[in-house]
Amino acid sequence: MEIKVVTGDITAIKTDALILNSFKGTKTLSGDIAAVDKALDGAISQLIKQGVIKGNLNEINLLHSLGKLPAGRVVIVGLGKKQELTAEKVRGAVAEACRYLRKNGVASIATILQGAGVNKISREIAAQSIAEGAPLGLYNFRRYITKKEDDTGEIKSLLIVGSEKDKPVLEKAVNKGTVIAEAVNWARDIVNEPANNMTPTHMANAARKLSETYGLSIEVLDKGRMTKLGMGGLLGVAQGSQQPPKFIILGYKGKPTTSIDLVLAGKGITFDSGGISIKPSEGMADMKDDMAGGAAVMATLMAIARLKPKINVTALVPATENLPSGTALKPGDIIKAMNGKTIEVLNTDAEGRLILADALCYAVRLKAKAIVDAATLTGACIVALGKICTGVFSNNQELADKVLAAGKESGELSWQLPMFDEYREQLKSDIADIKNVGNRYGGAITAAKFLADFIKDTPWVHLDIAGTADNDKEKGYLVKGATGIPVRTFVNLILNMAK
Ligand code: BES
Ligand code: ZN
Ligand code: ZN
Repeated sequence: MEIKVVTGDITAIKTDALILNSFKGTKTLSGDIAAVDKALDGAISQLIKQGVIKGNLNEINLLHSLGKLPAGRVVIVGLGKKQELTAEKVRGAVAEACRYLRKNGVASIATILQGAGVNKISREIAAQSIAEGAPLGLYNFRRYITKKEDDTGEIKSLLIVGSEKDKPVLEKAVNKGTVIAEAVNWARDIVNEPANNMTPTHMANAARKLSETYGLSIEVLDKGRMTKLGMGGLLGVAQGSQQPPKFIILGYKGKPTTSIDLVLAGKGITFDSGGISIKPSEGMADMKDDMAGGAAVMATLMAIARLKPKINVTALVPATENLPSGTALKPGDIIKAMNGKTIEVLNTDAEGRLILADALCYAVRLKAKAIVDAATLTGACIVALGKICTGVFSNNQELADKVLAAGKESGELSWQLPMFDEYREQLKSDIADIKNVGNRYGGAITAAKFLADFIKDTPWVHLDIAGTADNDKEKGYLVKGATGIPVRTFVNLILNMAK
């Protein structure tokens, strides 16, 4: 879909459909909506008066212009109460309206700057929100559906109507929104891929393609290099699988210094069966998503390579399958991570922390100034927070606050959980430096405490995205399947850090 800023009279635009809006309790029309209302002989104001158009959030009303406008149809999307409007609601409402129009066979759309001027939403933010909301909401993963008649159609162009003097800033905002949405959708694509087509090798190839297209540096460590580096966590998890593990390193350089301002590490388990501590079969198919953290950090580098902030960022993705076999790790085995710490593996299904241990050691060795990881790490995080928000864990409140703020800005909800030393006691092993599971309680926190053992004093934040990486119902700009969380949090964090 092409998104473009256009200027001029809204009633003169030739398009399949115009998207306008209504607010709950607002009866008088002004500006573009009033102009369209006039062209439609007062149809909109009449429907408001009759209580048909109520302005409830995401409510959709369709009018046919029947030749009174060059636009074939007019959609009025509800934005809720004016004083409660946020950019997040604009993203969601635009997504709902676009999906509705696609279902109705529309191919071209024009929209006003939804929400601009309301509740401190600037025209720039409105434009960016539209440019994010539309492609995110229209996303679908249909590459394995071969029946043509099931086609959902496609919205080919979206025009955003603004004023001549704003055009340059609006175009910049649209570009930013588009870049971010494309990165999120790229991440969604590789997370939604079935595990047979998204092995560690496929992930490494996807990273190579990103590097070629966007000028990122790349290195992919193979088993030999991992052995030399002593990555016993990653090698241990990989030893049960026929697929060779990969340790992917993507680098973005936005300033001439060699120091790394931020390392993003993402869990890259391309399929998590649990290993010998095998998972129940119900729901196991969802474990193809267990590389969502890895996908997100790669997608983030794709976005910043296009937005070019002045900062140096490296993405690390330890990638492997977690499968049971005659060569697999067994409960009770002891392995050694890259920093020399020994780990008693009491549950082979707590594998994410084993591969991340090595990635975090690697990040520390790079002398990164800050480290943030994202991982579909624990079912316990879903028990604690539901599928609504990402769990945040940190050894440094200043960095945690930056990540929380970046999440809030993006609409990707997150919530911090405690890291008291008392939790670490659950991980004491009788025969090794640490064991990989605690008791039944506080599992998301003990997992984070495990990771903390592989960070020295580098400021670090861990995001547990087990609940937020995928989604089971279409709502706003989220569709079923992978969400692409936390790409937008990461991009905002980096842009803010580079300011
Ligand atoms: N990948 C899972 C966590 C997960 C569960 C993600 C559900 C998304 C949805 C992780 O590797 C895992 O299996 N964790 C175990 C840890 C336990 C054995 C301590 C869990 O959460 O049950
Ligand atoms: Zn697991
Ligand atoms: Zn896992």
